[in-house]
Amino acid sequence: MQGNFSYHNPTKLYFGEESLNYLKDELKNYGAKVLLNYGSGSVKRNGIYDQVTAILKEAGKTVVENPGVMTNPTLEKLKEGVTIARENDVDLILALGGGSVCDYSKAVAASVFYEGDYWDQFWLKQQNPAQDQRLLPVGCILTMAGTGSEMNAGTVITDAEHTFKVGRVFDDRLMPKFSILNPRFTMTVPENQMKAGIYDIMNHIMEQYFSDFDDNTSDYISEGLMRSIIHSSRIAVRNPQDYEARSNIMWTATWALNTLIGLGKQQDWMVHMIGHSVGAWTHAPHGYALASVSMAYYRRAMKPGLQKFVRFAKNVWNIQTDGLTDEQIAEAGLKALRDWMLEIGLPLTIGELGATSQMIPGITETTVIYPAGYLNLTKEDVMEILKESL
Ligand code: NZQ
Ligand code: ZN
Repeated sequence: MQGNFSYHNPTKLYFGEESLNYLKDELKNYGAKVLLNYGSGSVKRNGIYDQVTAILKEAGKTVVENPGVMTNPTLEKLKEGVTIARENDVDLILALGGGSVCDYSKAVAASVFYEGDYWDQFWLKQQNPAQDQRLLPVGCILTMAGTGSEMNAGTVITDAEHTFKVGRVFDDRLMPKFSILNPRFTMTVPENQMKAGIYDIMNHIMEQYFSDFDDNTSDYISEGLMRSIIHSSRIAVRNPQDYEARSNIMWTATWALNTLIGLGKQQDWMVHMIGHSVGAWTHAPHGYALASVSMAYYRRAMKPGLQKFVRFAKNVWNIQTDGLTDEQIAEAGLKALRDWMLEIGLPLTIGELGATSQMIPGITETTVIYPAGYLNLTKEDVMEILKESL
């Protein structure tokens, strides 16, 4: 373990079928006005909205509603939420939905008391709010497993006008104060979103795992998490109503991106950078966009990262190594990854998401690039990866 780090994760979690019962107690810690952010209506159809609003009412809260937070939330919608929060002087932001609603709520929380251009300052310039800037507290009631947004400070916002999706990880003041994770709530997630979430989880782990060569405890934890998501995904795809599998998927999602397994690691995140750009151009679910460029990316990363790819093959996929060279073992690991992606029904090309060859220069242009993992990509490399992924 070569890195230096500090670790502090302030999010309190409530997990399990009874977890919503704890909302009442949490609400006592905050003032009377609650901004309730939610998406395009799934929470009304599956009854979770009724359960939550009944608890808010019982707790005597004044609820200001902000529905219509779209998947891949936009800058325009962020501005709307900031205005609502300012006009109503809210005390708490409650996110009711998936990663998009949770990300969005943190973005509003960061921006409400910032007097300048918050998009420019926090997303384009990637700054944190000043230490003396007031931030609104966020609580999250998660309805979809995937992003880890429930226990991290990430907020991904899309400038739809410029087809530009920007990820921002704030400091830990913007992590949710509490998150409620009831796996039962994820049972109504559409099958494509469930699969997208599963790959998002897998890829979060891979983005952190495929960097550095030192012997790091985080990598052993990552291997366990990957084995768990592979195992549970196979069960959930066959039977989406399997509570045990869905609960393991939800719990793995949280640990895949709550900062723990990235400790002491350089980390990669270029699949996410290219995937964000593909998502902005195709409007594909986040995890599908990641899946569609993964094979081309990891084939490139395999040579410079060979020893880690060998370890991935052995420890995650149980590849039998007798008589094989390191290259052959690493390749067998990547083939196992590809087979699993096909087995659970993930897209392996950007063409399946509606991308065309004409879009490739634009997708390349809007991809944020930095030296990462085992590669130091150029724009030409990104273009090649996209062409190979078409
Ligand atoms: O709009 P609603 O009605 O809520 O429907 C949503 C949406 O259509 C639906 N859904 C969610 N829970 C449901 C449900 N439908 C039925 N029953 C339920 N229980 O599923 C659709 C997708 O939801 P969304 O929140 O968009 O998905 P996800 O959780 O994958 O979040 C995606 C966003 O998170 C960002 C992505 O870029 C994307 O913008 N990310 C955030 C990260 C972070 N905070 O660290 C990291 C990730 O890498 C990712 O970039
Ligand atoms: Zn992701």
